[in-house]
Amino acid sequence: MFTVTPRTITVRNASLTYAAIPWDCQYLDNTTIQIKKFTFTTKQEAKHLLFTITKQLKLAKGDLLFLKTSPLDIKHLHILTSLGFYVIEEAVEISFDLSDWNPNAFSQHAMRGYRLVSATKSHLPSIKKIAGSAFTHDRYHLDPNIPARGANKRFIGWVETSMKSTDEVFAFVDANSVVIGFFIIAKNPDGTNLRLAAIDPSLVGKGLGKLLYYSMFSILKKRGDTSIQTQISLNNTAVLNVYTYLVHPKVTRVEMVLHFIV
Ligand SMILES: CC(C)(COP(=O)(O)OP(=O)(O)OC[C@H]1O[C@@H](n2cnc3c(N)ncnc32)[C@H](O)[C@@H]1OP(=O)(O)O)[C@@H](O)C(=O)NCCC(=O)NCCS
Repeated sequence: MFTVTPRTITVRNASLTYAAIPWDCQYLDNTTIQIKKFTFTTKQEAKHLLFTITKQLKLAKGDLLFLKTSPLDIKHLHILTSLGFYVIEEAVEISFDLSDWNPNAFSQHAMRGYRLVSATKSHLPSIKKIAGSAFTHDRYHLDPNIPARGANKRFIGWVETSMKSTDEVFAFVDANSVVIGFFIIAKNPDGTNLRLAAIDPSLVGKGLGKLLYYSMFSILKKRGDTSIQTQISLNNTAVLNVYTYLVHPKVTRVEMVLHFIV
């Protein structure tokens, strides 16, 4: 396993800073490296750095390099795609404030027995099952070079890790206490980060996603946790519809995500 501490390779005026993503390596069964900073002027410099990192880390077929960059830096994007990087998603970071959010404005969302409860060990198998089948719009599932099995395993692993960490995991249950969805959140210095959420894929598109997010926002608002941030993929129209319906999100960052498969 490579170090998670960022390392920098420098060739004359160009440089590449990278770090391994251990959980991706584990679940995708490859070496996944995030390029955190890639500074170059010419294609030759970028090519040289790419060659150097591949050699230094002994990267092999199927290993993944990814980077997030501004969609406005067209020259950078052009050079990267000419070297084999490909755009896999556009992601936006959004934030909103629940101080003035009024849950009663959505009275049509009668709860009909649906509840968001703190997840216990007994909820975990159902949550893992949902996590392993619900996600389709993320860059791991969209990339044909990444086996879907690995991408699913990654989300199952995410739930398992969250249960053991300081993140908060909620089970979304129906009137019969059957788990039909989940929500994972984390506190950070700027407020609350919405990490991961899903509805059982056999039940999507019936308004339950809106109910799930409505329930989460109601809990957060009641607690006084009103400053919320999250990151979503612009490919994910269902979740975009949920956010724009329930709140007024402010876009704080737009990033183009690129993959490069060795
Ligand atoms: C995101 C998610 C929770 C939403 O749940 P849902 O049950 O589909 O949501 P709802 O039915 O309450 O509402 C979704 C809205 O998006 C719309 N929508 C759903 N799928 C859509 C699609 N593919 N394209 C466009 N709109 C879509 C629905 O029509 C609905 O709007 P409407 O009520 O105006 O018709 C669910 O789709 C899901 O679990 N997705 C996989 C996991 C995920 O992406 N999580 C979010 C990021 S962590």
